[in-house]
Amino acid sequence: MHLVLMGPPGAGKGTQAQIVAGRLSVTHISTGDIFRTNVSSGTPLGLQAQRYMDAGEYVPDDVTNAMVRGRLGEPDCSAGFLLDGYPRTLDQVSELDDILTSLNKRLDRVVELTVDREELVQRLVRRAVDSGRSDDTEDVIRRRMDVYQEQTSPLLQVYATRGLLVSVDGMGAVDQVTARILDAVELPGG
Ligand code: AP5
Repeated sequence: MHLVLMGPPGAGKGTQAQIVAGRLSVTHISTGDIFRTNVSSGTPLGLQAQRYMDAGEYVPDDVTNAMVRGRLGEPDCSAGFLLDGYPRTLDQVSELDDILTSLNKRLDRVVELTVDREELVQRLVRRAVDSGRSDDTEDVIRRRMDVYQEQTSPLLQVYATRGLLVSVDGMGAVDQVTARILDAVELPGG
């Protein structure tokens, strides 16, 4: 199974992707996590990505696309994957199409998590207290939300037109949201 999980900052993509990927036995790929790992190890990719992340901006498409192309070609992706936070721009949609064609694969579903804006802000402010993520400050949270609206929300229409999009209510307890996602991807056990 090849899935994409979309949603604004704080929607629960990371939380849900980890659980759902485990339940479906597919590889969880979070571009945000890969960038953060590179930032903390001080790799050239991390040095390149950090200033964009700290400002709440997207890392340039050429950098992100090359990283994802490499990752999807790795052996643990052959049995299926769940992409968390990619694609986020129209350019990334085209790149993903191209990568999938070259791997002879296709997307099965694109799941959008919807959460009220007030709840999103509350979750991120709460996380800022205990996680210390450098992009969880008030100004940067606001910028991340705006960037999502401007650059990523148009992708929903693209995937809706292709008949791949399912919108899932991301409000409520984590296990309730998991059950809704599993239901939306039409798998038993939700
Ligand atoms: P990324 O790490 O993906 O950040 P994000 O999209 O801003 O999303 P978050 O991680 O903040 O939220 P989430 O939806 O994953 O929710 P989570 O489960 O964590 O990306 C970071 C940056 O990397 C980007 O800004 C960009 O710079 C760069 N980047 C990444 N991908 C890129 C791309 N494709 N192109 C270019 N640049 C890219 O939950 C949030 C909080 O809520 C947690 O504390 C969690 O415990 C809590 N929570 C979760 N579910 C619930 C629930 N049901 N009820 C209550 N609390 C909950």
